[in-house]
Amino acid sequence: MQEAGYEVVIIDDLSNSELFVLDRITEITGTKPEFHQIDLKDENLVNEFFKSNKIEGVIHFAAHKAVGESVQKPLMYHKNNLMGLLNVLEAMKENEIDHFIFSSSCTVYGQADKMPIDENAPIKKAESPYAKTKQMGEEILEDFVAAFDKNVISLRYFNPVGAHPSALIGELPKGVPNNLVPFVTQTAAGIREFLSVFGSDYPTRDGTAIRDYIYVCDLADAHVKALTRLIQKENKSNLEVFNLGTGIGSTVLEVVKSFEKVNDLKLNYKLVDRRAGDIIEAFADNSKAEKELGWKPETPLEESMRTAWEWQKGLS
Ligand code: UD1
Repeated sequence: MQEAGYEVVIIDDLSNSELFVLDRITEITGTKPEFHQIDLKDENLVNEFFKSNKIEGVIHFAAHKAVGESVQKPLMYHKNNLMGLLNVLEAMKENEIDHFIFSSSCTVYGQADKMPIDENAPIKKAESPYAKTKQMGEEILEDFVAAFDKNVISLRYFNPVGAHPSALIGELPKGVPNNLVPFVTQTAAGIREFLSVFGSDYPTRDGTAIRDYIYVCDLADAHVKALTRLIQKENKSNLEVFNLGTGIGSTVLEVVKSFEKVNDLKLNYKLVDRRAGDIIEAFADNSKAEKELGWKPETPLEESMRTAWEWQKGLS
């Protein structure tokens, strides 16, 4: 956003992030973004923030996002993800802020009936509390735009991976990673003994599950385009939804091989049982985002795997 000329103010409760990221952003962009440590569940603080800052648009990333954890702690997920969203929307209503970008997820589709998945695919019964918070979030937004004449874009991410090419910012999961790519990089770094490949009997080309791994900087670029679209009033309806994926499905073993090839190393992995709750395959039809947003993912999987490894090496 800063490189596109926007003045950025970050609100975060630091529950799953680190302050050093602000210095890294400064190193990359030359500008230190303004930062406020606020828990979005605190309605008064959120409203106070929006009252005392001149905000043109909101990009709402803040949410808990671990599927397994959400099954164990559903109330925590509903409280955090929905209260946070509601407090921001309330503050937007009170302070006449019109533009809102929502971090949604391909998880809203569940196991879709046909591939690739386009935005008209049915929203199936959610398979986890996390998925429910994303589905409910989109429903809340439907009512919000209808009642208050606001403009919203919901971005349904497929599987975000990789790190900034500078290796200065990347993902930093707390504890044992749930997601594939941080587990791969931590295994390569010797932090984990081996990667468990969950399921080798799926009806896919090599038996492992298929996902659409989208490079994080391509994903970031879509947010710049989405907010700009709203500010310039180019949106076609008050609530637009876009899939953000590469359009290419990769199996778990293809991800592993790509990582090994581009980084010239061998990864210790074992084929194990399927993980409960996993779907067989999900990859995006991203043609709507290309046509409407003018967004096209530019980065091949190998580059995601290279940057993910550069970032991991910088951590140790
Ligand atoms: C899930 C959510 C998605 C969410 C994402 C990030 C669903 C359907 N998807 O994606 O909405 O945004 O988490 O939190 O709920 N794998 C292994 N070994 C591992 C880890 C993963 O083989 O150690 C496999 C998984 O079985 C899966 C693939 O790698 O086939 C990707 O897994 P993961 O990175 O956890 O993401 P999803 O489950 O696809």
